[in-house]
Amino acid sequence: MFDPTALRAAARHAEAFLASLPDRPVRATADAAQLRTSLAGPFPDEGVAPERVIDDLARAADPGLIASAGPRFFGFVIGGSLPAALAADWLTSAWDQNAGVYAASPAASVVEEVAAAWLLDLLGLPPDAGVGFVTGCQMANFTCLAAARHALLRRAGWDVEERGLQGAPRVHVVLSEEAHSTVPMALRLLGLGAGTAVRVPADSQGRLRIDALPDALSACDGPTIVCAQVGNVNSGACDAMPEVIAAARAHGAWVHVDGAFGLWARAAERRRALVAGVEAADSWATDAHKWLNVRVEAADSWATDAHKWLNVPYDNGVAIVCEAAALHGAMAAGGEYLIKGAGEVRDELDWVPEFSRRARGFTVYAALRSLGRRGVADLIERSCVLARRMADRLAAAPGVRVLNDVVLNQVLVRFAPPGGGGDVDAFTREVVTRVQADGTCWLSGSVWHGQVVMRISVSGWATTPADADRSVAAILRAARR
Ligand SMILES: Cc1ncc(COP(=O)(O)O)c(C=O)c1O
Repeated sequence: MFDPTALRAAARHAEAFLASLPDRPVRATADAAQLRTSLAGPFPDEGVAPERVIDDLARAADPGLIASAGPRFFGFVIGGSLPAALAADWLTSAWDQNAGVYAASPAASVVEEVAAAWLLDLLGLPPDAGVGFVTGCQMANFTCLAAARHALLRRAGWDVEERGLQGAPRVHVVLSEEAHSTVPMALRLLGLGAGTAVRVPADSQGRLRIDALPDALSACDGPTIVCAQVGNVNSGACDAMPEVIAAARAHGAWVHVDGAFGLWARAAERRRALVAGVEAADSWATDAHKWLNVRVEAADSWATDAHKWLNVPYDNGVAIVCEAAALHGAMAAGGEYLIKGAGEVRDELDWVPEFSRRARGFTVYAALRSLGRRGVADLIERSCVLARRMADRLAAAPGVRVLNDVVLNQVLVRFAPPGGGGDVDAFTREVVTRVQADGTCWLSGSVWHGQVVMRISVSGWATTPADADRSVAAILRAARR
């Protein structure tokens, strides 16, 4: 008979952890050596009671946890977990469905179907696009680019799934020099090679330079993929999609968009209203593109994450392909023993690289249902407003400089040593280290166009203006010492 003791213990620990988030140090309080001491040991011959395993694990892991689900975590681009999404994640584990085929879990299949339709609606993407729920944007980029490879080579009369790339027509790839590293990684995995892509220079904000695109495309004689980006991982800047799409279309190229977090700006009504205004005025001004991902819907494929700005627990990414048949063609798998639906139901493994897999649709469904269209818009808008607020307050302090146009949720900051002179790179690195050690908030550093920066990303649903202000105060304290 099922004994719920361990599950109840887990719920107690989870509740205690979540309740501690607003006040606990955001950094970890134990280092690797301390964690090894409390977690390692010889592999036991005998098992331990489940409740004790959970109690011991929770106690030993706690000092090594980062409060990334909390309100003052601004590192990388990491969202928290919405209450409904987190609870749905628990159910996903309890239900333990293998979301590979409809026959193994009709509920998982239909929920994915619904979550996919809601996402397309919310993001303003074609309603009949193909959607696959994968582990993150790395795999979403991989999956979309596999669909691109499939479609382009099929058009060239080549079945890449059957024949591979041995002797295939060359597939050219055009890539901004600011593309996220997961795009070249996907090209490596697809046999297209990261090093063979034509790299296009980017402008001061990290947007692909449109004036350099024709030259790049003219070097591509044959099937071509153009990889664009909405939401630069450092600056948040978005490529000028209307121009990217126009140039790519003139060349017959496939346009792929890496929108790991930036694609979510399309869900923010207020920003959309601005897009509409811009469109009506016929003013494709760079000021608009740099923070609004207009015309993104005219691309061929989009990779994004639910575990970033939608605040769904890890792991959850989404691959979306306009031509659903291309995604299906690249991913569909067989197996004599599989009982597959005859097209009228969704066999999830036909849309992703995995076979057996977690039922990722449940958490996305729960997040979207709990927020609704308005809630998602508020979450995105609020994050952008708080990023702006932090940028303005930091920039008002002496010796502090914000390097990027704060168009979304990303802020890049540099700190001059007090008293003038000195090494700004070294001091900025030092400020990041001090802030991390202080524990009021957590953020990381980066290098932006050769300069060391502090990188702030506002992505969590729980962050309030008070959290933003408290974090700015901690950052400025660290910069004054
Ligand atoms: C623009 C961009 N693309 C791709 C990724 C990779 O996403 P994931 O970590 O979910 O694989 C990131 C991560 O920050 C990103 O910002």
